[in-house]
Amino acid sequence: MCGIVAYYGPDQAYDFLIKGLQRLEYRGYDSAGIALLDGELKVYKNKGKVADLQEAANGKNISGTRGIGHTRWATHGEPNTVNAHPHLSQSGDIALIHNGIIENYATLKKVLVERGHIFKSDTDTEVLSHLIEEIKDNEQVDLLEAVRLALNEVIGAYAIVILSKNDPNTLIAARNGSPLVVGISDRKGEFYLASDATPIVEYTKTVTYLNDNEIVAIHNGEMTIKTIDNVKKSPFIQELEISLEALEKGGYEHFMLKEIFEQPKSIYDSMRGRFDPQSLTFAMRSLEEYASKIKNLDRIIIVACGTSWHAGLVGEYLIEEFGRIPVEVEYASEFRYRNPIITEDDLVIAISQSGETADTLAALEMAKEKGATIYGICNVVGSSIPRMTHAGAYTHAGPEIGVASTKAFTAQVTVLTLLALGIADIRGSVSRKRLREMFAELNTIPKKVEELLQSCNQKCQEIAEIYKDVPNCLYLGRGYNFPVALEGALKLKEISYIHAEGYPAAEMKHGPIALIDENMPVVVIATKRNYYEKVVSNIQEVKARKGKIIAIVTEGDDKVAEIADHFIEIPDTEDCLTPILATIPLQLLSYYIAVLRGCNVDQPRNLAKSVTVE
Ligand code: G6P
Repeated sequence: MCGIVAYYGPDQAYDFLIKGLQRLEYRGYDSAGIALLDGELKVYKNKGKVADLQEAANGKNISGTRGIGHTRWATHGEPNTVNAHPHLSQSGDIALIHNGIIENYATLKKVLVERGHIFKSDTDTEVLSHLIEEIKDNEQVDLLEAVRLALNEVIGAYAIVILSKNDPNTLIAARNGSPLVVGISDRKGEFYLASDATPIVEYTKTVTYLNDNEIVAIHNGEMTIKTIDNVKKSPFIQELEISLEALEKGGYEHFMLKEIFEQPKSIYDSMRGRFDPQSLTFAMRSLEEYASKIKNLDRIIIVACGTSWHAGLVGEYLIEEFGRIPVEVEYASEFRYRNPIITEDDLVIAISQSGETADTLAALEMAKEKGATIYGICNVVGSSIPRMTHAGAYTHAGPEIGVASTKAFTAQVTVLTLLALGIADIRGSVSRKRLREMFAELNTIPKKVEELLQSCNQKCQEIAEIYKDVPNCLYLGRGYNFPVALEGALKLKEISYIHAEGYPAAEMKHGPIALIDENMPVVVIATKRNYYEKVVSNIQEVKARKGKIIAIVTEGDDKVAEIADHFIEIPDTEDCLTPILATIPLQLLSYYIAVLRGCNVDQPRNLAKSVTVE
């Protein structure tokens, strides 16, 4: 986590840095800071958000045609002003920003302290700025070489950018494990650096993504790239496809609301061009390439974190139902540390919105080392996971800025549906008739989502008004809607800070039922097709204990509507597609509750969208 930006060029850096940091605030918002170079090196930093930094810099000297900026999600050292980046070297001549973790910082720090270095912060990052200067002075090398040698002593993950008062025509950055993009302007000698492309797209669409263990040096207006082993590299230049409008709120009060309402389009985009309902053919190259492997698969492992893990659970149900292959869904963080059995015959699917989640990446690297085929389902184009997988499918949901994931989840489930059907097609495990029915129904989903957003929005606001002050909430679902219950509960706790738990509906009687009294709201997904009667019984059990039922039901249902305290109708669809629809009112419910509680919906406390630390 943490977001970094940098500018090198003929213009003043300040505005780009501030705007860029605001775009990257989703990566962490504990503190923010900038360094500007214009003869002298000026550093302004503050606990809190970028807006607080702007206030602190107000009236100060903000000139500088080279600059670096940082928005922090605290790992080492509490989120205060001293620990905010940039961090200076011993002499104060070098300023450095960092996203990641320096694992051996304590050892490096000890040696530097013995050599007389005095540290001001509790961060791992400050060690790097001191180390680079120590090497530069001792070895009598230039800044680039000093950075290279320093990085050879570092264990950990980083994206760093360095400015030095004594090298005003140089800007150096490096990457290992944390993302870094370099934007190349049409104007010669102008460069923009950032953790992702969102701060850059307004200025240029020509970029290069740095690879692990690469250092980029901009010196006298020219860019060169080399590895930390001193091997020169040619940059792979590409054009960005993001539009600027996708990064703006577009009239909505929050990004989260905008992203919820974008779902008819994002779901459509995630399936667009990937199947032809007429000819019953798939156009997913990744599936074609691995058809013979898929035919003979004995097992699929899905690894993910957070909301993406919930999508993975839906994926398990889908692939097992249609593809008839056993699927295991793993928390990436657990999977990587328990010496799992992985063979060359396995297909490991990673699901990640950001494509940067450190635990997911590490799990994949381990699986890849053991010979498994790695398939990625990611949203951010060019991010780390798609770059290390053998094959994959982007979700094409567009940039998701709200920290709580919404449209990325429904796009992931859509792509997983296509994947399950594609696998089924390759293995011949479903009939052509069934495939045709599924394609036809999938085609209707964007329209159904659009209608649902209109029909349930007001009701979600009214229910939110009633329950906004509850301390706890339960979510129940069965089958395909069990992961939806988990996701609904996660959404509520993430953005409203209400304690919420999701359970398989039938598990309620094995513990959670003890919590139910007249104050406990229970959100139940009780759609018509499968297990309907069973879920109705579960609702009765809650009602018998005076719990309050908020039911998600299929349009026209009068049975549950009669016993529930509140009900929200969703359009009828295939059982396996209900997660996409049932999730929508749960997103809106959480959103309105959080707004009514005065919470910062887009940037909930303590969270970050892109979790690049373990
Ligand atoms: C963070 C975010 C979640 C997200 C999870 C996994 O915790 O706050 O919204 O689901 O990371 O992220 P990924 O980018 O891998 O989907």
